[in-house]
Amino acid sequence: MNPRIATLTNRIVDAVREIILEEGVTFEEYRKSTQFFLDVAEKGEIPLFQDVFFNATIAQSEDARRQGSASDMEGPYFLDGVPDLPSHGGSMKVLPEDADAERMRIVAAVKDVDGNPVSGAKVYVWHSTADGRYSGIHDGITRDFNRGCVFTDDKGTFSVDSIVPVPYEIPKDGPSGWLLNEIGRHTWRPAHIHFKIEKEGLFGLTTQAYFQGGDYVGDDCCDSCPAGSELIMPAKYDGDVRVVEITFVLDEALAPLAVAAE
Ligand code: DHB
Ligand code: FE
Repeated sequence: MNPRIATLTNRIVDAVREIILEEGVTFEEYRKSTQFFLDVAEKGEIPLFQDVFFNATIAQSEDARRQGSASDMEGPYFLDGVPDLPSHGGSMKVLPEDADAERMRIVAAVKDVDGNPVSGAKVYVWHSTADGRYSGIHDGITRDFNRGCVFTDDKGTFSVDSIVPVPYEIPKDGPSGWLLNEIGRHTWRPAHIHFKIEKEGLFGLTTQAYFQGGDYVGDDCCDSCPAGSELIMPAKYDGDVRVVEITFVLDEALAPLAVAAE
């Protein structure tokens, strides 16, 4: 008996049973839902389904346990073994066909909750190509494009150049896309940059940054980018380069929940 698993399972089952009775769910609808979950598994969409409907809420739940910057979903496209970049002055590799895309400079600081700079933090940065694909995942693009790993300098800062990503459409032809359509939702995420920050003794932060004024900001199919989120970056430019100025605040590493689900 695992008390954490028992609590979560019983509460979820109770909530679903209540809805079944209130809504008068039929045998036919039950059979359709069985087939739906078989399809989700068969198409390999269990991670996608969970990301669309629950990951934003998991981030909220995690954030309620600590101080520091808002976290956000990792998504399915984090990869290790990506190019190392210097703390400053480096550029992510850009596909030849993206050479004319809008340029972007990320100018970032990592701090602890007392405002002290965090030097030597390892930061993974990744985002889509100029037409919404992820290197190492889509179309045989090797994993070195629009990805990088950078360490903060002794002032806790780093900067990196790349191109501005675009909105990303999640796979729409499978059961998750079908379900979104059935409930009147679209299948787009606003353009975003992913960050994963690690430093011993501090709580690792996985988050994203969005672009104020962009399509689907405040209307993310994964509900990860609500209007007013601190992760939406103002439209700042240096000439024609979009500048993303961002500070990441990392809390102390927390003890795990006393009784975690195993
Ligand atoms: C998905 C893809 C993303 O790039 C992302 O940030 C979140 C989710 C997905 O396809 O599930
Ligand atoms: Fe993404």
